[in-house]
Amino acid sequence: MTNIDDEPDGATPLDPDEREGLKFRHVTTRGELNGLEQANVESGLVWISRRRKRDVLTEAFICELHRRLFGEVWRWAGTFRRTEKNIGVDPLVIAVELRTLLDDARFWAAHNTYSPLEAAARFHHRLVRIHPFPNGNGRHARIAADIYLDECFGHDPVDWAAGNDLMHMNERRSAYIAALRAADKGEYGLLFAFVGV
Ligand SMILES: Nc1ncnc2c1ncn2[C@@H]1O[C@H](COP(=O)(O)OP(=O)(O)O)[C@@H](O)[C@H]1O
Ligand SMILES: [Mg+2]
Repeated sequence: MTNIDDEPDGATPLDPDEREGLKFRHVTTRGELNGLEQANVESGLVWISRRRKRDVLTEAFICELHRRLFGEVWRWAGTFRRTEKNIGVDPLVIAVELRTLLDDARFWAAHNTYSPLEAAARFHHRLVRIHPFPNGNGRHARIAADIYLDECFGHDPVDWAAGNDLMHMNERRSAYIAALRAADKGEYGLLFAFVGV
């Protein structure tokens, strides 16, 4: 049994205040927490499939999406991170960095700056690099990128997991984290290949 704090490589640990936000009292293992989060994410996906608005590139939607994906498990879901992490910008600049990203992503779609999958890969990487929330940023930013593809390009979603489970260490996750780390240095080739460009 793995402890609740056992995170795979490339994940961000929660600080004690954030841990306090867990809505279930008796969760002790990582497996239990993953199961609760997974059930919540699935109900969030149902909400997405029913929504009509096309507002993916707004701060309100980015936060609402996080709340829909994680709000049954975490009290702080949908609210920005207040603490520093090993990944992510200074918490004080999350809102402004997010605004810039959403404006850039709108521009890319309006001007066909990149192919749809390239734009989605850049959007995903920049969003997860900002790391707006205490946890769930990877899952949230993958789903957000898929909604961006659908709403702004009429494009199918990325096959992120490719038959694997991106939440556990395996070759697919290693390739994913390596691709994000290369993108951190401005080298997007691995990430483009990963999303199927
Ligand atoms: N070097 C990196 N640069 C950018 N993003 C990263 C890097 N390393 C990890 N990530 C992203 O951060 C995510 C982990 O953050 P976390 O908030 O725990 O999300 P989740 O709980 O959905 O896994 C990874 O899935 C990945 O998307
Ligand atoms: Mg996590």
